[in-house]
Amino acid sequence: MSAIPDKNAGEIHIRGGVRLQGKVKIQGSKNAALPILAATILTEGENCLKDCPKISDVYRMLRLLQSLGGHVRWEGDGVCVSTGSITTRDMPADAITGMRSSLCLLGALLARCGSIVMEYPGGCVIGERPIDLHLQALKQMGVRFHEEDGRICGQAPEGLSGADISLALPSVGATENIVLAAVTAKGRTRVRGAAREPEVEALCRYLNACGARIDGVGSSELEIQGVERLHGVSYRIPTDRIVAGTYLYAALGTRGCVLLEQAPCGHMQAVIRMAERMGALCQETGEGLYVQSLGELLSPALIRTGVYPGFPTDMQSVALAVATMAAGETRIEERIFENRFRVAEPLRRMGADIRQTDSGSLWVKGGCRLHGERVEACELRGGAALVVAGLMAEGETQITGCEFIERGYENICKDLRELGARIYSV
Ligand code: UD1
Repeated sequence: MSAIPDKNAGEIHIRGGVRLQGKVKIQGSKNAALPILAATILTEGENCLKDCPKISDVYRMLRLLQSLGGHVRWEGDGVCVSTGSITTRDMPADAITGMRSSLCLLGALLARCGSIVMEYPGGCVIGERPIDLHLQALKQMGVRFHEEDGRICGQAPEGLSGADISLALPSVGATENIVLAAVTAKGRTRVRGAAREPEVEALCRYLNACGARIDGVGSSELEIQGVERLHGVSYRIPTDRIVAGTYLYAALGTRGCVLLEQAPCGHMQAVIRMAERMGALCQETGEGLYVQSLGELLSPALIRTGVYPGFPTDMQSVALAVATMAAGETRIEERIFENRFRVAEPLRRMGADIRQTDSGSLWVKGGCRLHGERVEACELRGGAALVVAGLMAEGETQITGCEFIERGYENICKDLRELGARIYSV
């Protein structure tokens, strides 16, 4: 079997109205796995990444690593990657333009090869998603950029050098790119205003295990002393806080009672607190996160997204879906990506009363009864929100555009069926 299967998403059909019950194991984190896979480019020897999620974005990244000359093989739930000899010639353009995380290759390949030519990365259509902070920081480290035929060309003929970098915004991707560029650069790099998301922390921990010298891991000030070389390691990818959050809200929305095995509770505090305000009893146990609906679904009044440890933008659409049925009005304020309300339209077709008050806020009436519809997923988290809405709705929901959902969820239908849902991929 090929190390990288082709997945072919069909539709998801859901017969709603079942209270979720039981337990499900949470998969490895997409947003941690992708930059760590890019980071393997910097190491000598083999890396075994346990609990690597089998999702289409990971397959895309593995395809990119293979095209660069890397070797990839799956061993159970882990993937082993070695990137002995690297050439930047033949990166498949569609794998780069197909996902935002291909941007991590910028820092990693500049560090490893001193030059890069690549397409502008793609990803979910959730807003402008500029890359100015990435480019600015890498320029400070000695990279010269120009554009050729719509592609980014970067060169660091003298190699990369450490720099003092202050990020105007705590961008997750820009922080990751700086870290990737800095770990083998000459001298010391200081990053002020770094993103503190758990996935940045996971990347730093992985790199330190490979021999990097990163101080301040998990804080907004990183200090990175460049080292000559990094070695491969065996590393467990942390579990996915957004997938766990999705199932937590699905349990809450269906008035269920579930155990989310290995949910990363410590990194889910804002999501857990919001679920409690909406009527969930949440208990952190040695096994994971236990969630029980206390009966009535209540509006949390305000859901405002923010950088970590705030309420994650990736959970906003799923929380919106639940808020449509909660008693009372909810205001949703999106502070990270300006175009993350596309799911409001299909939710309206399912019976939700949602109004956009300005470009960054929604008003949700609440207390509605959702009904099944044929709806289209337009992006990853909006697609997951439609799944949650379908679980709560009366009748059958049919979701198309499921390739977006497969970018981040290993097998959402199987996971939810384990909790008793009537949900099928057809
Ligand atoms: C990552 C996550 C994504 C999550 C987001 C915020 C991955 C693969 N994706 O995306 O799931 O929703 O963090 O937690 O890990 N910005 C600029 N200039 C830049 C870079 C970013 O203005 O050069 C802006 C963006 O437009 C956005 C904000 O900064 O408004 C945050 O973006 P960023 O933290 O970079 O998100 P991503 O790394 O793209």
